[in-house]
Amino acid sequence: MKFNSPVETNLFDDAKIIGKPTQRVDGPLKVTGTAPYAYERNDAAPDALYGYPLGAAIGHGRITAMDAEAARNAPGVRAVVTTLDIDPLEKGMNNVARLFGGNEVQHYHQAIAVVVAETFEQARAAAARIDVTYEEGEAADLDLDAAFRRVEGSGEPDTLFGDVDAAFRDAAVVTDQMYHTPGESHTMMEPHASTVDWSDGGDMTVWTSNQMINWNHQSIATTFGIEPERIRVESPYVGGGFGAKLWLRADAVLAALGSRAAGVPVKLALPRPMVMNNTTHRSATVQRIRLAANPDGTLKGIWHEAAAYCLPGGRGENATAQTPIFYAGETRRVKNHVLDMPLPETADMRAPGEASGLMALEIAMDEMAEALEMDPVRFRIINDTQVNPSDPDIPFSDRHFVECLERGAEAFGWAERNTSAGGRRDGDWLIGHGVAGAYRGALVLPSGARAILDGGKLIIETDMTDIGTGSYTIIAQTAAETMGMSLDDVEMRMAHSAYPVSSGSGGQFGAPSSTSGVYAACMALREKIAGNLGLQDPTFADGNVVSGETRMSLSDINEEVSAEDAIEWGDFQDGYAMGTFGAHFVEVGVHAYTGETRVRRMLAVCDAGRILNPVTARSQVIGGMVMGVGAALSEDMALDRGRGFFANHDMASYEVAVHADIPDQQVIFLDTLDGVATPLKAKGVGELGLCGAAPAVANAMYNATGIRVRDYPLTMDKFI
Ligand code: MOS
Repeated sequence: MKFNSPVETNLFDDAKIIGKPTQRVDGPLKVTGTAPYAYERNDAAPDALYGYPLGAAIGHGRITAMDAEAARNAPGVRAVVTTLDIDPLEKGMNNVARLFGGNEVQHYHQAIAVVVAETFEQARAAAARIDVTYEEGEAADLDLDAAFRRVEGSGEPDTLFGDVDAAFRDAAVVTDQMYHTPGESHTMMEPHASTVDWSDGGDMTVWTSNQMINWNHQSIATTFGIEPERIRVESPYVGGGFGAKLWLRADAVLAALGSRAAGVPVKLALPRPMVMNNTTHRSATVQRIRLAANPDGTLKGIWHEAAAYCLPGGRGENATAQTPIFYAGETRRVKNHVLDMPLPETADMRAPGEASGLMALEIAMDEMAEALEMDPVRFRIINDTQVNPSDPDIPFSDRHFVECLERGAEAFGWAERNTSAGGRRDGDWLIGHGVAGAYRGALVLPSGARAILDGGKLIIETDMTDIGTGSYTIIAQTAAETMGMSLDDVEMRMAHSAYPVSSGSGGQFGAPSSTSGVYAACMALREKIAGNLGLQDPTFADGNVVSGETRMSLSDINEEVSAEDAIEWGDFQDGYAMGTFGAHFVEVGVHAYTGETRVRRMLAVCDAGRILNPVTARSQVIGGMVMGVGAALSEDMALDRGRGFFANHDMASYEVAVHADIPDQQVIFLDTLDGVATPLKAKGVGELGLCGAAPAVANAMYNATGIRVRDYPLTMDKFI
């Protein structure tokens, strides 16, 4: 099905299942601990042995010798494969550093060996007995600030319109500040893990924890140089991804090599320290933001220049992602620099770009509002735009940012807030209130599915993943609704390379794309059923197919009927700017003597088209808000500049926020309809909840204390 023009009809306006609060269909499996995660495939690979990885102990350089004799002779060991044993493996999709093979070390904790043993402890103990001799590379300059100063002002701007210099020269009020966001780790609960059966070196089965079945499938084929047809990939349950599991990583590669060498299936989970330095992370950013405003508060100019690091050929965080499009303003200059540094690989982490960019831009907006002596909610409202600021012929498909701010201000009690920084106290706690805007792009990707009607059951097959987001549930809702059946009639089969290729889960494109693909497959199934029965334009409702005088229960159709289709997106979407919008409101207490911060309450108002399931959508948004609190207050990959690695590589020293840190979280969905986005008029929301949450905390902390901190995380030492 090609989605070729905006939906003008009221399709799904009377929905009975879509949009209704629905508990997770996979909930019972999860809470009873019976959902089979990748490291626990005792059902599928009961004889799997234990793999344990060894990571490089230098930041970059090469390996001159490895002595694995002691490891091979250690108790219980079945196989040892070192990186010197095999040629450098090809790189899979978006792998920047090589995952294994050869003597070159590109980053700390790069995988350099795998040990297979009968127990986990034996494998771990043996791995520690591998002797490695390194030749360290030249010390590298890892000072991002200094690197930014060297490139600042250079290169073609990514976005440039209007006479920016004149705007800044003539503006009534100008602000100009530097902001820093640190490297961040996804820190999902389930580490990268795979069980692989490549025991005869022929066909390969990979039970893994991955967001993108098809990308992963292709990458495994490329990496090992084998036909995709010989590889089966399954990832039915994923204990969090946040972007870390978009790509093939070392867990699957090492388990495969270990399996081939030992002649048995092997399971391998990356130990937490290796997750931090072996896989990917969100790069730190340095950002300079200059704003120019007229006395009435309208923006005259926005100047955003940023830098991030990555390995050569990679992508760093683009903190300027939102700046061309989020706010109105007559002129703009936007430039992002990506600087090569020999550090662990950087890649996407939840809301890549906007999450970091808004951490700076939304403080800058707060600072400008203060300079203008204007309410920060009002300042944002008057700088709303309904068109792409650089191309007024491109309207937003559906944008209700102003309503987010207004509804939020009302619900939060913004009018009662503390208006003078440092001016409100509750015992030893300084109380502050903050607001920030939220924006995240609304990407959609092609997505396919198969729908099968079999003895009154509706079976949906798609390689779509559920990374904890609720895909099983919203897809089942979509299928049941489209077929006029009940949720109990739907059987979900997902996340297997044998099923039609879906969008996968990432970039908050999963929900809108995959449900559209399932809608397409179900419409194809309806057509097939109608054809088989010789019915004209039938309706499907209450488990029946009805046309004229004919009414037949779908459970009375004895023959299995199956249809496959995919959603594809027409070029008409290029004529629109598509995004999701929101506003965050936060109340904090900052301890007057210790500087300790407690988030007292948070509210997010979200504009993301039709909300397919308010239960799972709310979970996504409050999860994002918690992540935003971590980004604001504690998350910080501590770079050892001398050695080129992150020193706090575990969950004891890389501190994330948890729900219990925030006693009161509220979410309001505007639940509008975006007929340009998808046939269901829905957009993703999984990343929007993070965008703007951290700067709302930061602005509340400023409001509480009168101390403006522009370097995340906003730890207590910066407030006393
Ligand atoms: Mo997301 S960072 O594309 O999983």
